[in-house]
Amino acid sequence: MTLEYSKKVKEYFLHPKNMGEIKDANGIGKIGNPICGDVMVIYIKVEKKKGKEIIKDIKFKAFGCAAAIATSSMITELAKGKTIEEAKKIGLRDIAESLGGLPNIKMHCSSMAEKALKKAIENYIEEKKE
Ligand code: FES
Repeated sequence: MTLEYSKKVKEYFLHPKNMGEIKDANGIGKIGNPICGDVMVIYIKVEKKKGKEIIKDIKFKAFGCAAAIATSSMITELAKGKTIEEAKKIGLRDIAESLGGLPNIKMHCSSMAEKALKKAIENYIEEKKE
């Protein structure tokens, strides 16, 4: 069992991409992790183009461990420019793989990023109905 972070995890932790908040976001997903008490928020700005709903912008805030920051940053990169249907399919393993792997005990951090994005998409769909 590896307890080391990959080079990529360290890079994304030290220089996270898409960190921050979107003021006019039309979907927000906030999730708390019962295992460690950490919190992650994902903001999305979805725009319709040729009948498709595209994630034009996405940002995150994370109050947690290095893996929480790296995985939430990575999911923003994976989801940007995708349709909401495609983005919903991004799983914790896709995030971990894109980061060059994660120690097993840190997979729950990746799961948190996956859930936060799904919640943001659900929130966008809910808001749209009103
Ligand atoms: Fe809390 Fe990683 S230990 S999110």
